[in-house]
Amino acid sequence: MAFPPDFIEELNKVTSISRILGKFVTWDSKKTKAAKGDYWACCPFHEEKTPSFHATESRGTYYCFSCHEKGNAFTFLQKSRGMSFTDAVRFLAAEANLPLPELTGKEKEQAEKVNHLIKIHEIAANHYQEQLHLESGKPALDYLDSRGLKSSIIEEFGIGYAPNNLDVIKILNLAGFSQEQIVEAGLAKPSDRGNGIYTTFRDRIMFPIQDSRARIIAFGGRAMNPDTPAKYLNSPNTSIFNKGVVLYNLHNASSSVNDDNRLLVVEGYMDVIALHQAGFVASVAPLGTAVTPEHLAQLLRLSQQPVFAMDGDEAGIRAAKRVVDLVLPELVPGKSVLFSTLPDGLDPDDLIRKRGIPGIRDCLNKAMELNDFIWASETVGKRFDTYNSRTILRGILDAKINLIKNFSVRETLKHDLRKRQFDKFNKGKKLIEASEQSKQVKESLNKTGKLNKGSELFFMEATLISLCLYHPDIIESEIGNLESYDFETDGLNGIRSELLSETESKASSSDSILDILKEGEYSQEIQELLDIGEINILPEIADQNALTEARVLFQEILYWLQILKEEKNLKQEITSSPEKEYNPDLLNELKDTTLKRESIESNILEQDTATSQNGTSEQMDDTVHLKAIIASALTTDNSTFQNGSAPKPSEKAMPPDHNVVVMDNSHRVPKEDYDELMNLLSK
Ligand code: UTP
Ligand code: MN
Repeated sequence: MAFPPDFIEELNKVTSISRILGKFVTWDSKKTKAAKGDYWACCPFHEEKTPSFHATESRGTYYCFSCHEKGNAFTFLQKSRGMSFTDAVRFLAAEANLPLPELTGKEKEQAEKVNHLIKIHEIAANHYQEQLHLESGKPALDYLDSRGLKSSIIEEFGIGYAPNNLDVIKILNLAGFSQEQIVEAGLAKPSDRGNGIYTTFRDRIMFPIQDSRARIIAFGGRAMNPDTPAKYLNSPNTSIFNKGVVLYNLHNASSSVNDDNRLLVVEGYMDVIALHQAGFVASVAPLGTAVTPEHLAQLLRLSQQPVFAMDGDEAGIRAAKRVVDLVLPELVPGKSVLFSTLPDGLDPDDLIRKRGIPGIRDCLNKAMELNDFIWASETVGKRFDTYNSRTILRGILDAKINLIKNFSVRETLKHDLRKRQFDKFNKGKKLIEASEQSKQVKESLNKTGKLNKGSELFFMEATLISLCLYHPDIIESEIGNLESYDFETDGLNGIRSELLSETESKASSSDSILDILKEGEYSQEIQELLDIGEINILPEIADQNALTEARVLFQEILYWLQILKEEKNLKQEITSSPEKEYNPDLLNELKDTTLKRESIESNILEQDTATSQNGTSEQMDDTVHLKAIIASALTTDNSTFQNGSAPKPSEKAMPPDHNVVVMDNSHRVPKEDYDELMNLLSK
């Protein structure tokens, strides 16, 4: 209904925001300074323990410093109570004792029509309710009883019975309504035979459908006979009933949604009623249509996180997936949806009857967050062992991400889904699964080709080079490191040199570095490199958009390799020159380096097991994922101590002092240090 702007302005002026909001939130007595018109409460729009919701009496506005919800008394009633603007105006006008403005002739006519339609529904509902308790309604009542509905619930939901006759038309005629009005209300239809009208609902259990103001605006009728063509029949759309907007039981649910009462969205009336009877009173259902954007807007207004409890069948899962696509554009920080998929093809009503309240509770506890649901619905039961399948998955997930309008929500989900892909495919593929396997791979690879793939650190080094091939930007930023790093094999050193010189002269060509090198001196080695499944970096990392991830991975691997080499050199230095004086500095240096390496590795390995144990990747950042890759590579044989032999204590002069060991070079070493050295060298 349209209200004159002056009236709204006046209403806004006389409305006390603290008094109106105080009906729905509890003002914090400590923080609130009523004298100054400064009110604080825990925010009704998101969960919190300390008040960050602030209302300013003088301006008539509120603002949450945490979730940034803001508005005035009108928007508050709309957003937090699910009222329409018109309803909010009526509510505030009644609170302020302000009479509603006079309506124009046309508005009056429209309002009257609505009132008539509502009145028709009221009369019909009463009639149907009466019929249920007559002898002729006995089968219907028995049916409801067989479905476990108590009489108090039948009463509360106003459930009735429409007999197979024209009585409702006669009663409405007697109350002064014309055939046209009854047809307009959807309770009757013109007869095919052209003589008069006949009732829409016959021999059906009748569920009154109410709007957000609890006015009956339509009916749903359930056939008891399984042979009846339509199990459920809803009123047609009328000027007061729009199936795409109305949610069954919204009027009840909106007043009972709170912290303990999650708003449940189910598929059918019977589910709502059964849930209500079991104590889950904040439940709603669409009316035989899929969830629409209008439904969703109301649900998100009422609840931070409505729970969609879809039937545990194919159709239910399809419905939930549709909800995902609808909800993604609407997400803002703090607002989301949960999905609870019911077990074994059951609907909530079946579940309650089979497993009682704990069955439902259990299901709700297991409700999935949106990100988990998206991931599961796109990956569970599917295989991703080909490049193509992974690319397709990435495309699907990216398309979902791109539906999100809110920047921060979009970035968070993007990050989460990328991480999951990264994790899943690395885990599945691990650069090298186990050392046993890696040895086999190395042996078989070593037999052919130009690259010396049997070299100790080959796989990690080859990954470094591959990263550069896919992301030449890394070469530029890591040029110093690339230049100074000494690869184990001639092949990789050669490719490195080509990479560096091509990067320097790259202005001369628009071809990609990879294409140029494929034609160059090391073409064969490059091809071999690209062909090795074990180092073929994942599509996620090869992707142009993954430069940041690739660079982090490069740096991680390089750092680890550098430490490994440093340690190896130190060991060689200590062991290969027995004549050299025992050098505590060198020993200390080795000790430090070994500790550093061990800490990198244990960090990696720890994260790796943590990742595989808890399955979800919430606490992990990208680095950890990258580390997981390195961890898998750690399983390569990295016993870097191969060339030298451990120093032996002198056989001739073992001193009586058990705390001292005399080395070959006659150097006396404290026993403790000697043990430590032996220990380090054996690692
Ligand atoms: P279901 O077929 O899942 O029925 O329809 P249900 O809720 O389990 O009902 P019971 O337990 O068999 O009584 C779910 C909803 O789909 C709409 C109705 O709104 C119903 O509540 N529907 C279903 C129709 O509109 N027409 C139909 O023929 C069937
Ligand atoms: Mn059912």
